[in-house]
Amino acid sequence: VLVHYGGQSAKKSGLLDRVCEALKDFDIDYVTLGGVVPNPHLSKVYEGIELCKKEGVDFILAVGGGSVIDSCKAIAYGLGNPEVDVWDLFTGKARPKACYPLGSVLTIAAAGSEMSNSCVITNEEGWYKKALDTDLARPKFAIMNPEITYTLPDYQTQCGCADIMMHTMERYFVLEDTMEITDRIAQDVMKNVMKYAKILKKDPENYEARANIMWASSWAINGLLSTGKSTAWSVHAMEHELSAYYDITHGIGLAILTPRFLNHILNDKTVDMIRDFGINVFNITPSDNKMNDAKKAIAYLHAFFEQDMCIPMTLGEVGIDDEKLEIMAEAAARHAGGTIKGVVELTKDDVLEIYKACL
Ligand code: NZQ
Ligand code: ZN
Repeated sequence: VLVHYGGQSAKKSGLLDRVCEALKDFDIDYVTLGGVVPNPHLSKVYEGIELCKKEGVDFILAVGGGSVIDSCKAIAYGLGNPEVDVWDLFTGKARPKACYPLGSVLTIAAAGSEMSNSCVITNEEGWYKKALDTDLARPKFAIMNPEITYTLPDYQTQCGCADIMMHTMERYFVLEDTMEITDRIAQDVMKNVMKYAKILKKDPENYEARANIMWASSWAINGLLSTGKSTAWSVHAMEHELSAYYDITHGIGLAILTPRFLNHILNDKTVDMIRDFGINVFNITPSDNKMNDAKKAIAYLHAFFEQDMCIPMTLGEVGIDDEKLEIMAEAAARHAGGTIKGVVELTKDDVLEIYKACL
């Protein structure tokens, strides 16, 4: 087994030692490799692949969050497809045929990689952040003990909650090909995340809250909330450029972008969808003025991120100015195949306008 982990947290909490002791108890040989950074790097993936080949590893175990799990997935793809450079799988130059099995001991409720089919890696040469989505990489198991997330800094807890909210919203905001029961489940997931995110702000060791948020992190992205409907990933496509170029925390980027994105797409076609979100998620009392109701919904979402979760809600606050907005907007559109084909099609100019509204 390769036991793969991040910076300090798993060592400091003693979790890594507990995992290694458990492997020893079962006479399972293992090697360890730490140092995965948030927005995980391709160079660490190459290092992992080489180590696994040298040591004859045939199972990858993540002890960490989305970044560690994604690094594991990429190593597992590399081992399963030795004839190609693993990065070619992310650029679409080659298709994966296999993937080594992996599992996780989850330490943060956020990305949901513990149950998702997705793997997101950053190539430091050029700062390309790319996702590879196939069922081959779905983990075989995830060990999810909410108590392990007690040690999370408040900031990471809130970023995680924002990411979970957004995995739900990206699936929820669809104009055609919708499915009411799936949307109703999504509304409850969002309400649940908001309720427990607020509790965790005051009481980070509240087991009930940690457990609900942890379970929501998996449900928001494991496919349940896409059943019977199409799915758009507009905000993620724009955020991945921010965290690739500026290495910001993924959940923060999403929170900053989303209210501006919703404002940008608000028109006669989308007004009912956004108003319905306000009524069902924020309990807004419907009025005769649909447009006002929809604007209220967006304002409530902004206030939830800013006031309840204390998330910095401008790009300036996370160190991003207007210098690379044009480059990032162009990259976001290009990486999505020319335009972002989400709930509303976004061109490079749309993306640029949304970025500018976030400054
Ligand atoms: O490195 P250590 O020291 O472990 O610190 C981590 C890291 O700094 C810390 N942390 C984790 N568990 C902790 C803890 N600190 C104290 N106590 C604990 N129990 O938290 C920091 C963030 O960890 P990270 O793994 O980066 O968080 P997250 O789960 O949010 O993952 C983010 C990555 O996942 C990608 C993002 O783009 C980003 O690269 N995503 C992956 C997805 C997927 N595979 O399905 C979907 C998502 O949309 C997302 O794009
Ligand atoms: Zn996400």
